[in-house]
Amino acid sequence: MSLISTKQNDVKSIIAPSQARFASLFEKGSLEMSPLWMMRQAGRYLPEYHGVKNRANGFLRACKNPKIAAQITLQPLERFELDAAIIFADILLILEPLGFQIDFNDQGPQISSRAPLESLVKSFENNIDYTLEYVGQAIEIVADKIHPNHALIGFCGAPFTVALYALDSKRSDQFSTALTTFYQHPQLVENFIDILTHASMEYLSMQVASGANIVMIFDSWLALAPWAIFNNIALKSTAKLIRTFKARHPHIPVIYYPKDKTSDSLKHLSQLPDIIGVSHNENFGQLQKDHSIIFQGNIDQRLLLTDDSTIEHWVKSQLTDRERPSIINLSHGILKQTPICHVHAFINAVRALEN
Ligand code: CP3
Repeated sequence: MSLISTKQNDVKSIIAPSQARFASLFEKGSLEMSPLWMMRQAGRYLPEYHGVKNRANGFLRACKNPKIAAQITLQPLERFELDAAIIFADILLILEPLGFQIDFNDQGPQISSRAPLESLVKSFENNIDYTLEYVGQAIEIVADKIHPNHALIGFCGAPFTVALYALDSKRSDQFSTALTTFYQHPQLVENFIDILTHASMEYLSMQVASGANIVMIFDSWLALAPWAIFNNIALKSTAKLIRTFKARHPHIPVIYYPKDKTSDSLKHLSQLPDIIGVSHNENFGQLQKDHSIIFQGNIDQRLLLTDDSTIEHWVKSQLTDRERPSIINLSHGILKQTPICHVHAFINAVRALEN
């Protein structure tokens, strides 16, 4: 029986139960095994994703339909023995209830503001009424279908990265339009980022209430922040997000992905997450030597474009270099041209190193 033709109702029976590789993280806050999942594991490299997305009439509508979003979330777990599901959604969805129009086409996200930033910020100052219930509903469906050994990851964007998109509708080179707004209107931008921080905390909290048991904060463009903004605005808002979230959910592990800025983030964040995501530009083994925190990621997604024996060779050399268990993941999202058989080769190479 083909996995793809299996009815959605039967999903529970075809998701391979993963081993309890996350168990010690939940029980003791430490890792005894190395769980594996892949950034963007639900998405365009999977043929079955395209079918479901087209039937939903596009990416945004797929995100907003809880049954479809749940179905897409589960697609990679039907094919591969992964240890986590990450809810199918996007870091930019949060902008919609905050007064932005968002759309996704072949050029990527298209964002426009419904009103000048100043009036948007004023309208939210005393009245943050904001909800993305459809994401919570999708999480509930997924939580009901996956094996308890699977982690279920909720996520949001870091306030700085989301603000870059919000303030740069044309996505200028290196978000320079957004950054000029940071310089020209620092107070306004800070107020906006504060609203994003609060909304993101409520959003993550809602995801946990719906069944997510790990949350991840994506700061994909942190490396674009000039120093003054990096420290005073970007990291400050992320630390506040982690702190306020942790005050409410002390036992939910938080992963923060300060892309390419791991050491500076570890040094300057006033509130650390539980886990740090690391890109392929950084030295994973050295970071593990220097810091006791749990790390995730670091495996170049382009490795999965090569061939089985190359994948095996590099996975082996990279993972045997690691000091202690970590969350095995790609460095950034899996590429859409990745052959499915290479994903199998990657997962097999990782599992072959387990004793
Ligand atoms: O499987 C998963 O990882 C969960 C779903 C997920 C998506 N986006 C779905 C998606 C997650 C965790 C994200 C995070 C996200 N979205 C980030 C942070 C991580 C990163 O990639 O840096 C960012 C910056 C975005 C914003 C965004 N969304 C961009 C720039 C784009 C277009 C370019 C691209 O990479 O595809 C999207 C669209 C998007 N988000 C798709 C998916 C599956 C592709 C939609 C499609 O065309 O089918």
